[in-house]
This record gives sequence, C-alpha cells and structure tokens, in this order.
Amino acid sequence: MLSELSAYVSDTAPGRGALRPARSWLHSDAPSRSLNGPWRFRLSATAAAEDFAADGFDDHGWDTAPVPSHWVLQGDGTYGRPIYTNVQYPFPIDPPHVPDENPTGDYRRHIGIPADWSDAERIVLRFDGVESVFKVWVNGVEIGTASGSRLAHEFDVTSAVRPGDNIVAVRVHQWSAASYLEDQDQWWLPGIFRDVTLIARPAGGIEDVWLRTGYDNGRGRVDPEVTADTTAFPVTLRIPELGVERIWSTASDVSPFDIEGVEPWSAERPRLYDVTVSTAAESVALRVGFRTVEIRGDRFLVNGRRVVFHGVNRHETHPERGRVFDEEHAREDLARMKRFNVNAIRTSHYPPHPRLLDLADELGFWVVLECDLETHGFDAVGWTGNPSDDPAWREAYLDRIRRTVERDKNHPSVVLWSLGNEAGTGSNLAAMSAWVHARDAGRPVHYEGDHAGEYTDVYSRMYASVPETERIGSDDSRSTLLNCTPAQSARQRTKPFLLCEYAHAMGNGPGALDQYEALVHRHPRLHGGFVWEWRDHGILTTAPDGTPYFAYGGDFGEVVHDGNFVMDGMLMSNDVPTPGLHEYKAVVQPLRFAFTGDDIAIASLRHSADTSDLRFHWRVEHDGTLVESGELKVPVVAAGESERVPLPEIPVSRDAETWFTVDAVLAADTPWAPAGHVVATAQLDRSTPRPVPRVRHRTDWRPDGGTLTLGVAEFVDGTLVRLADRAVAGPRLELFRAPTDNDEGVSDAVEESDASIAGVSNAELWRRDGLDRLTTRRLSVERAADALRTLDKVSAANSALSVLVESVWSIEGDGLELRVEIEPSSGWRTVWPRIGIRLDLPDGTSPVDGADWFGLGPHESYPDSLRAARTGRFSAGVRDLSVDYARPQETGHRSHLRQLTLTSAGATVLRVVALPDPRGRRPGFTLSRHTPQQIAQAGHPFELPDSTTSHLFVDAAQHGLGSRACGPDVWPDFALRPEARTIRLRITAG
Ligand code: GAL
Repeated sequence: MLSELSAYVSDTAPGRGALRPARSWLHSDAPSRSLNGPWRFRLSATAAAEDFAADGFDDHGWDTAPVPSHWVLQGDGTYGRPIYTNVQYPFPIDPPHVPDENPTGDYRRHIGIPADWSDAERIVLRFDGVESVFKVWVNGVEIGTASGSRLAHEFDVTSAVRPGDNIVAVRVHQWSAASYLEDQDQWWLPGIFRDVTLIARPAGGIEDVWLRTGYDNGRGRVDPEVTADTTAFPVTLRIPELGVERIWSTASDVSPFDIEGVEPWSAERPRLYDVTVSTAAESVALRVGFRTVEIRGDRFLVNGRRVVFHGVNRHETHPERGRVFDEEHAREDLARMKRFNVNAIRTSHYPPHPRLLDLADELGFWVVLECDLETHGFDAVGWTGNPSDDPAWREAYLDRIRRTVERDKNHPSVVLWSLGNEAGTGSNLAAMSAWVHARDAGRPVHYEGDHAGEYTDVYSRMYASVPETERIGSDDSRSTLLNCTPAQSARQRTKPFLLCEYAHAMGNGPGALDQYEALVHRHPRLHGGFVWEWRDHGILTTAPDGTPYFAYGGDFGEVVHDGNFVMDGMLMSNDVPTPGLHEYKAVVQPLRFAFTGDDIAIASLRHSADTSDLRFHWRVEHDGTLVESGELKVPVVAAGESERVPLPEIPVSRDAETWFTVDAVLAADTPWAPAGHVVATAQLDRSTPRPVPRVRHRTDWRPDGGTLTLGVAEFVDGTLVRLADRAVAGPRLELFRAPTDNDEGVSDAVEESDASIAGVSNAELWRRDGLDRLTTRRLSVERAADALRTLDKVSAANSALSVLVESVWSIEGDGLELRVEIEPSSGWRTVWPRIGIRLDLPDGTSPVDGADWFGLGPHESYPDSLRAARTGRFSAGVRDLSVDYARPQETGHRSHLRQLTLTSAGATVLRVVALPDPRGRRPGFTLSRHTPQQIAQAGHPFELPDSTTSHLFVDAAQHGLGSRACGPDVWPDFALRPEARTIRLRITAG
C-alpha cells in the first residue's frame, strides 16, 4: 500500500511545485553551484519504505553514490540491475498504478550557500534529469514533486534555504504513473542521472530569452522575446561581430529587427554568431544561427532550399554511464557522425542533455527534437486505456511538450519538434501540437503516430519498404496510404515526407540503403530519413570467468525483456563503426561522380554549401598496386549543380586490372575531421578484358582410390589431407551461415519479396531444411592423368533434398586447379544463405592468422551492401576480418575476390586465384576462426569456443542482408535462390 505521503507516485499529473513556465537552458553569469558529486544514498525496495522525512533525514548507515548516475549501474548489482524492454512494460498494465515493489532511492547532501546569495531574489534548484518521479526537500521543508525523466524541473527554494550549511534531500522512485509515458525502447535506468544545480536568480535578471531568427538572401532577422520583470530594463542585446547593439528601455520596446550582411546557418556551414543579452544584474550568452524553416507545398525547406535528412536516431547511451551525459564522448560521437556523412539527428525519444544541442548547433546537424513520450506498451491491450486519448493525462502531456520546447527553443539546429514516439494517437497529442503551433510558428510539428495527419505538419513513417516509399514519393493518384482513408491519404500527400526510422541497423546489415537513397533524389516530396539507430546500447559487464562483454536484454536476469533488440546501432557499444556505417557513409556521400568517355561529372547533392572546402585526389592501380596519382582540378561546384572535367591520362595495363579512383577530401581541418578526410569516393574500371583459362575436359577418368599427390595437394582415397605441406580438411559444401538478426526476423514485410514467408524467419526455414547439419555420402572417386574427380551427395537428416557436388582437382600449367560444381536437386523452396565450400586449416605449428587479397574491401560486403566496398588490395589479421557483433552472427564475407594469400605470422602459406565462373561472376571469401555452426550457438562473443583452426570459405554466392529484424526482407534481386554454381580456384604454395 502506498502511504499518503507517496501517493504522488501514481498521480497522472506531472507533479506539483515545479516552476512554470519552463524556460530555456541558458548560459548565464548569475551565480550557481553544481550539486553534482557524491551524495549520501540508500535504496529501499518499495515506495512505502520507512518515511524519509520522518527520520529527520538521518543518513546514518547510508552509502554514497555519485550524482549524476543511475543506481542500477552502481555497485555491481548492490542496487539492482538494469532492465531492457522494447515495447513491453516491465510491470502490470494497470494505469496509473505501479507495483508496491518499487525501487526507491533516497539521496541526501549538504550544500554551503555563500552569504552573498542573500542578495538573490530567488534561489532555484534545478534538476536536468531524474528517472522517473521524485520529491524534494530542503532543510526538511518539502518543496515539491516532479516527473518527466528527460526533462528539466526547477523549484523555487528561496524560503527554505539559509546562508551556510543546507541539506537537500531527494527521494526517487523507479516506477510511477509517468513510467506509462516513458516506454521507450531502451534500458530502464532509474536515478538522478543529469545535473543538479542551485542557482541564485538576481533581482532584475533575465528569466528567459528567446531569439527567434530568420534568414533571407543575406538578411538576418532576430525576433526577440525577453522574459524579465520591469525592473530588469533596460535590456541590451549585442552581436559584436555584426556591430549590433539594441537597447530596449521597456518590455514594449523589444521588437524584431533585421541585420544586413549575415551568413546563414545550415547543417553544412553552421555559422553561429555570439550574442549577449544583458541587464544591469545579469548577462546571458547565446549563439544564434540565422535560418528560416518553412514548409512550402510538399517541400520542407530551410532558407528556401529543400532539406534531405541523412539522419540517425540518437539515444543517450553509454556502456558504463547509461544515459549520463559526457560532453567529450558526445562531441566525439557527433564528430564521428559528421565523418560518416550524417547530417541530421532525431533525438529519439526524448530531449538529450541540453548541452548536446549546443554541440549540434556548432558542428552542424538538422535536429528533430523529440519530446519524452512513448506509451507503446498499450499496443499489447489494443491501446485500451492509452493515456494519449484520456483527458486525465492531458496536463502531463502538455507539461512534457512545454518543457521540451521551452528548454531548447533557442537552437538553430532544431528544425522540427516531435511530440514523441509510438504513443498511439489521441486528443492529448493533438493538444500538444496545438500548443507548439501557438508557441513556435517557426518550426513544424512531427509525430509519426499521426498516421492520418490530423494534427502534424509532415508525413512520417517508419520502416516503410522501398516500394511503399516510392509510392508515397510519386503517387498522386487516389490510392490510400497505410492506415488512412482516401481523404486522409489525400491530405498526407500534400505534405513533405520523411522516414523517422528506417534501415534497422541490428547486427549485420542493413541492406538496401542505396535503394532508399535513390528514391530521395527521384522524388522531391521525400526528404530522406533517420536510420534506426546510431549506436548499440550494450552495458559493459563481465562473464562469470571475468571476460568483459556488452550485455543486452536478459543478461541481468530480467523477468521480461527483449533480448538483443537493443543492439541495433551502426556503431557498436565500444564506439567501433560497423560495416553498415561505412556503407551508409558511401551511400549518402554528398557528391555523385559519373564517368562518360574521358570525362568525369561531379554533381553536388548538398543543401547549400559549395565545394570550396574540398580537394579531389585521384590514383590509378594495377591489380591493386598504385602506379600513378595526382590532384584533379575541379571548379567549385555550387549546391545542386554539377561540373564536368576531363580525366587525367590513365595508364592501362594489359595483364592486370586497371582501376581509377577519385576521392573528394577535406582541404582543411574542420572541428570534426582533419584535412585529407575522405568525404566521397568513386571508382572507374578501365581494365582491358583478359581471357579466362578454359576448363580442360578430360576423357580418361577411371575409378581409383589410394594416395595421390597433385601439385601441392595430397589425397587419400580421394580426400584431401594435405595442402602446401599442412594438414587440411575439406573442401566441404557449406550452405549455412550463422543467422544474422535480419535472417532471424519474422516481420511480414515480405509482400514485395518472393523470398520469405510472413511470420517465419529465413533462419527457421534453414534449420528446418537442415542447412546447418548437412551430411555427405561419397558417390565416386576417379582419376585421370594429373587429375582427381570426386562426386558427393550432400543432404540433411530426414530430408530427401540434396546437392550433388563434383570436385575436380587438376594440374593446369604449373598450378593446381580446384573446380567445384554445385548442383541442387529439385524441390528446394527457401532461399539459401550461401553457396560455398569450406576448407579447415588446423593451427599445427604455424596458424593461418591473416589474409592479403585483391578484390572488394576493406570491410565485409554482401550483395545488397556493396557501396562502401572498393576494388583494391587489402590485408587483415584473421580476427579483424570478423566483426564482433553483440550477438555473434554471419560476418566477414569479402565479395568479388580475384587473388587471396593466406599468411601465418606474415609468411605466405597459400595463394589462391579465384577465376570467374562462366557468367563472369567471382566468388567471395571469408577467413574465420569459427564455423557458422559454432557462431550460431553463441549468444555473446565470449561464448565462442576456443579455436585451434582457421576456416576458409569460398562462396560462389551469399544471400543479401535486408533489414527484416524490423523492416523489409532482402530485396528479390539480392535473395539467393538455390541454383547451380561453379567455383574455380588456382592454388599454389607460399
Ligand atoms: C521502432 C521504435 C524504436 C525501436 C525500433 C526497433 O518501432 O520507434 O524505438 O524500438 O522500432 O528497434
């Protein structure tokens, strides 16, 4: 039972006592004291724990915990564990109530207040983030309560404080009515996790200031709003760099004004001007950027030009700190986004730490600032009782959006307000939107859940397939949109469209980024989108044997959880970019190169910046070896324009492939990358065609076993036993890959793909067909002069389906050739993950630990994720050839192989030349310390068994990646259907 004292825990109202209206997070010279640091702390199991106030705030026997922090990430389990759920509520759906088992953290600390603060008109206690509801006392005086975890709350504590020593006490409950509104797909992480500050508000100070800005053709506009009482005036605004000084004697003097000769702000050229707004008592520093956001017809424009969002969804997450902000880490994270051509951020699904927006202004991002709101768990009950449509929650919704907008309204980077995420629909959302429209006419309102477009300004969808996105972009007919009537569809079609989430980046993937990108440039109504999501949310922990690893749902023994669905970022928990992020960078690069004849056309897809910040470097390689390089002189290309320049003379080789590569690089250092950083790349194949050696057919085959040596290969009864003087096993047919998260996806977004069955994962079909447990029966062994031929029938237990594998080893010239013909029986119905062969190379005395290759690299690539791959010569150690996905899965495939050298401690072990098949297709390779079967068994990297063998896979083909973990399956063009394939390799020793 909740005592009356903690009844606020299940109150739908947003708390009482916090100051209203909310105000901007300002950089002011008014005195303040940070209350960050160690606090006395105790954790109780219920909200009804021994009353906090009644014990006189005695902290005898308490522990100490840092503020800001989440208690579940302190003390290694002493204070409970994190819980991860996506949609599910980790408590009964019984709104607005929560269980009596409600971890409750009591915080207490002393704070010395300087004597001169007695001059202050008010003393304000500010909390920038507390999850989920809290109550505050100062010197035993109850001050108030608040909820809205990722929102700022300020309390007037003037009458409770005194000069000298003061005691601040805070009681925080993990669960509350507010938890129903905070069901975002992330870890539940209670505690005071953002800054706490005590602020002395001077008499005659500036309560709030809002500098709305606009830009038109060299002219900037400032439309100021100053909140101060009459004694504060005169108020002076200065923009030294522009020679601007405005002195307003009274509030009614405060009015808009124009400034000539300003440079606009954009995500590409984030031009900021320092501004001060001062009274005699206080000065506030802001950095303004001049820009005008507007919707014209179905276009979303900034400064009159269409914006294309190459965005990511950004959560605040860190493997050790959780949602506790670390400026240095955040700045580096944003700089990394810039280096990977990301130009936009959706702050999914709550306002970030306020400082993040300063960084976004400064580094340059289009920001969709989202309110702290999600009620997705009501989906489980058909949205019955969803707070979004219940007047009892209206004030909580309005309080959330007011706090969101007021706090961050000054940032030029914020170009859209978002009401929240996955909260169904209803009048409370409409009320939020109406409030924003009345308060800020300068920024449109976004909310994806408003499918029918009743109260928002842009049309937004998540995970729409490529064909659906294309229909939205191009369709002017009367056909209906998802969840819309014809009339609603017509309304939605009049608006700009964006994908607030797409390309779910879970595990190995996503595929098809380039297909989405192509649509954006064909259909101006489409404004790009935001990949789900920027980074994995792994929490650093240790396995029982002490091995560190990144935990996901279930790793902390949660009662309900959603497994590794929280590991779906393009950046891994340890800040390592995934191959998917490299693919993203290549797909959205802001320049397009087109080669025609002896010319190259360079088109700029930028919003407004020209290319004066770039240089163009070129190089020519023969079979991946550099032969010539130089700088390409390119005239400055204006945004949206293109320039054509002649190619340099390209020396073409007759016996090697000739590749020309051009890189657009930064001419000078920027705050996010050094000079020379590659922004965009293209390659041109100038190779002369070379004949492929013909298959030499033999006629003198006769059955024969026994031992045999052919070049560097030794056989016993037709079975390869040694290669280049090393023990080997194989080659054996491999059709299985350790299922990716997308292979395990069951989404029914398969309508346009013939590959899959709605509701059943491909991985499940593969397991049913036994692709992971194939067995072999040798049908024949034959010899000819200088050649060996075997025929194997490969099939799985309890299945009549099979594959015939003919392997021919032969001496061709002075080398050994292996030709494998793979021939499926009739009746296979699913897609196949791969069609390849596997060779096992036990360590012996010299483990195979590296590869040099000429082909596509440097990163792994798959048929629907090839844009980051370039043709060249690369080398890597065996461990670096695999990506440590949070849940081990298929990794490491390098496509379009020409030459491969396996190495041991740098020495060549084996050389392999991959010949194209009769249709000119080349295989890919994978070198791994584990088999797909071993990888598929492991839930985390540390569960992979110790290995004493390197495995070489040569795949005639691999299935695409798709993004079916949450979205569309592999596009049919990249789905691998069972088919006959040929693999031809020329093998020599080191
Ligand atoms: C969306 C949701 C995100 C995330 C994603 C899947 O539906 O808005 O928060 O859950 O799916 O990872």
